[in-house]
Amino acid sequence: MSQQPIDTNCMTLTRWILAEQKRYAPNSSGDFTQLLSSLQTAVKAVSAAVRKAGISNLFGIAGNTNVQGEEVKKLDVLANELFINMCRSSYATCLLVSEENDNEIEVETERQGKYIVTFDPLDGSSNIDCLVSIGSIFAIFKKPSDDEPLSPGDALQSGRQIVAAGYALYGSATMMVISAGHGVNGFMLDPSIGEFVLTDPDMKVKPRGKIYSINEGYENKWDEAVREYVKSKKQGKPYGSRYIGSMVADVHRTLKYGGIFMYPATTDAPNGKLRILYECMPMAFIMEQAGGMASNGSIPVLDIVPKGLHERSPIFLGSVEDVQDVLNMIKKHAADK
Ligand code: AHG
Ligand code: MN
Ligand code: MN
Repeated sequence: MSQQPIDTNCMTLTRWILAEQKRYAPNSSGDFTQLLSSLQTAVKAVSAAVRKAGISNLFGIAGNTNVQGEEVKKLDVLANELFINMCRSSYATCLLVSEENDNEIEVETERQGKYIVTFDPLDGSSNIDCLVSIGSIFAIFKKPSDDEPLSPGDALQSGRQIVAAGYALYGSATMMVISAGHGVNGFMLDPSIGEFVLTDPDMKVKPRGKIYSINEGYENKWDEAVREYVKSKKQGKPYGSRYIGSMVADVHRTLKYGGIFMYPATTDAPNGKLRILYECMPMAFIMEQAGGMASNGSIPVLDIVPKGLHERSPIFLGSVEDVQDVLNMIKKHAADK
């Protein structure tokens, strides 16, 4: 059997972060590097917990409900604490917005830095107990004014202000996909060295795919436009249908294989389900950076300015031509009204 040679010069995520900083912000303080390293540590710890969750008795329900009124699982609690603690101890953040916390978390003054981080520490929690892929999602913004104290609403920024965003996928392997505004790079966790290694440089999404991804159980609750669009994907040479129910996994597949992921408005949830600041925006940022598109049905997701920390939005994201098709259908139906 031939042995894989050991790469003595591999591009790890830490090395990539340092190079990125040197290339695009040579005179910076290093806070951004510190923050990304801390997030990387949080992800490694969550990944380790996910991998041994069954043995460590981390599955099951932790007994309380989060701000969305959903049951919080033990892994959610752990992942949330890891993200909060790592961000705090990076000395690079001032404000944190987590799916699991009703209010924003202000970092104690002595540890404050200029970045605001929004995150979904564990995405796809309904998939935890059956061992289906789950993930974490984050976006990094800057404090609006460097010299002024924090004020309410500082976290409510447009997605165009995002400095960097990414996600971690705890799938058949653990992967981190990150963009700091200069394309998208994917790093696979090599458990033998405990490092993320660049495996997917400069990721691009195909202009058109062959897969649509939506929870089809809600068909009767969609708008007519979405219903007609999905129906059209079954005609002629039909698209394949895939829906995991973990946004990170569904978006990652869309990025790798092309196609469209949708979580539209329903009659029960007129703004859809997914949260703008820590689910829709980071994924929209990644998709745009990979040459794809993300819309709420009328405007790009990144142009939204949320009014609340946990505000939701419908989302259509993926290959440009596929997203354009659904937008055209929405326009057609609006004109018919
Ligand atoms: P979370 O586990 O963070 O609450 O997010 C779950 C989300 C998302 O990952 C997924 O795309 C969506 O819920 C699935 O919702 P449905 O079950 O309504 O399809
Ligand atoms: Mn989520
Ligand atoms: Mn979550």
